[in-house]
Amino acid sequence: MTDTPESLIIRRPDDWHVHLRDGELLRGVAAFTAHQFARAIVMPNLSPPVTTVDAASGYRDRILAAVPEGVSFTPLMTCYLTDHTSPDELERGHREGVFTAAKLYPANATTNSAQGVTDVANIGKALERMAAIGMPLCVHGEVTDAEIDVFDREKVFIDRVLAPLVRELPELKVIFEHITTRDAVQFVDDAGDDVGATITPQHLHINRNAMLVGGIRPHAYCLPVAKREEHRLALRKAATSGSAKYFLGTDSAPHARHAKESGCGCAGIFNAPFALESYLQVFEEEGALDRFERFASENGPRFYGLPLNEERITLERTSVDVPAEIDAGDTTVVPFHAGEMLRWRLRR
Ligand code: DOR
Ligand code: ZN
Repeated sequence: MTDTPESLIIRRPDDWHVHLRDGELLRGVAAFTAHQFARAIVMPNLSPPVTTVDAASGYRDRILAAVPEGVSFTPLMTCYLTDHTSPDELERGHREGVFTAAKLYPANATTNSAQGVTDVANIGKALERMAAIGMPLCVHGEVTDAEIDVFDREKVFIDRVLAPLVRELPELKVIFEHITTRDAVQFVDDAGDDVGATITPQHLHINRNAMLVGGIRPHAYCLPVAKREEHRLALRKAATSGSAKYFLGTDSAPHARHAKESGCGCAGIFNAPFALESYLQVFEEEGALDRFERFASENGPRFYGLPLNEERITLERTSVDVPAEIDAGDTTVVPFHAGEMLRWRLRR
């Protein structure tokens, strides 16, 4: 048996998928992500969505204004793709350093995605341009067809949309985001080096029972929804495998407590406050502490073609109590692991 170290020093990690929201909620949650991560890919599903260079640069300014003084944090902005996205606007935003990537939301797949893409054929020209200029595509991988069971939507998306897309544009960098199934792991493993994937802490910790056994638990509900245990195990294996294709993306998605505890609760898990602690516990359980830095701090920037962070952080093996709720701006949000104890703590 090898001893678990008492602390771990690694390059400062980045979050390759986060929802920071806007207004009061942004001011309430930005510090959590900025304390944990050096950079983050910021999702554009605001209302209205971030579809132009001007909108993204204004949003970036508001994020920077919400980060506490003395904390270094770089928001990496994304463009929300619609059926009408102009390839020229994408290219200009990318060249000007405003758009790091663009995000494909199938229309009506999730929160604020009504203006998303109704058919990938409609963004063919945009995707060709992105491939030509080396601009990565972030993908919410679920179909939205009413007849497809919600637990099958990721797998069907792979078959109907993602596999053909990658076949037709093999040079496009694609991030299959927040993957939730063994099928997605298989697809990513089999694809070329220009296909990567992010994995959230919740999909490594919980399966669908967490949502439905003993009562309906809205704080365990996110999209894509957690699947069966066999899928969770496949994700844990992928994340801790050391493969360069998998990297950290929390999908932290805060919603006010009342918006989740409702007759029609919103999708999203707010994991930003203890994201690293949550991931690290999984790596410890899998005997893969030595591979954590790759997943958290190296694979993401390498995939995106960005420099690695030079700063280091220390994670200490000491217990931390996750509060039952967190004040965020003018509202209250329930964090992932609320009321639980985690075994690692990020040193401040
Ligand atoms: O659970 C989710 N929440 N999944 C998403 O894709 C969007 C996110 C949100 O913005 O609330
Ligand atoms: Zn998301």
